[in-house]
Amino acid sequence: MRLKGKVALITGAAGGMGAETARLFAREGAEAVVICDLLDAEGAQVAAEISRAGARGSYHRLDVTDEPGWAGLVDRVMADHGRLDVLVNNAGISGSAFPDLYARDAWDKLIGINATGVFLGCKYGVAAMRKSGGGSIVNLSSISGIVGQGYLHPGYNASKGAVRLLTKSLAAQHAKESIRVNSVHPGLMPPMRTSGTTADPAHRAKTLEGIPMGRPGRADEVASAILFLASDEASYITGAELAVDGGWTAV
Ligand SMILES: NC(=O)c1ccc[n+]([C@@H]2O[C@H](COP(=O)([O-])OP(=O)(O)OC[C@H]3O[C@@H](n4cnc5c(N)ncnc54)[C@H](O)[C@@H]3O)[C@@H](O)[C@H]2O)c1
Repeated sequence: MRLKGKVALITGAAGGMGAETARLFAREGAEAVVICDLLDAEGAQVAAEISRAGARGSYHRLDVTDEPGWAGLVDRVMADHGRLDVLVNNAGISGSAFPDLYARDAWDKLIGINATGVFLGCKYGVAAMRKSGGGSIVNLSSISGIVGQGYLHPGYNASKGAVRLLTKSLAAQHAKESIRVNSVHPGLMPPMRTSGTTADPAHRAKTLEGIPMGRPGRADEVASAILFLASDEASYITGAELAVDGGWTAV
């Protein structure tokens, strides 16, 4: 029970790695797992699963780019649960569905959701964690926040790089308040909902050639890394970047 009694909020948790993390948090004894996304039916279903697993699961619609939305949601979490211990900024969109490298609208969207969304989550999450006496924030970056790829819109790399350094900046800012901030960097995982070219099996097979372990990762392998950083086992870890990439960035 590595999260016993903790209250956690996870963005983009209606499916994919966010939902997997929410389920794991419930199994690890979290008192409450608050899920948000834009996909209401799927989000409500994940919340119901969490409640059946013994935690208090709830779903709230939140566009992570909506600042008043963040303020309202975090107020609601504090009213319902009295504290916030863990925030996982997981919501994001892929950079592989924008063929025009210099499309300005794609840049704005990628930076808006993947980077500004995380910034806003940290802003309101930190305020709630201060009132809670501390907490742990885990931000989903990517190997694309460490190295570049020639097949993605550069806004994806830029957004994930921003998450990586935002994480280190906030780790330094808030360490004395017992608020830890770390980033997780998945490699080749099951495709995102918004994946374009990178969902193509031929593209994935080619990518695998550059990954030492020679296989894609699983959502549960990312969820386990998030769990570790969220839990008190990581009590002396802040500002760290944890690659979950089968060795992709090691070579
Ligand atoms: N799948 C991969 O290969 C991979 C690799 C590296 C990093 N990542 C990162 O991991 C995170 C999770 O990815 P995933 O594979 O589970 O993808 P996914 O597409 O399955 O999940 C992302 C979720 O975010 C939600 N979302 C998108 N825009 C939103 C917004 N504006 N407000 C609120 N919710 C929004 C989506 O509805 C979706 O449920 C993302 O940040 C992604 O960039 C994924």
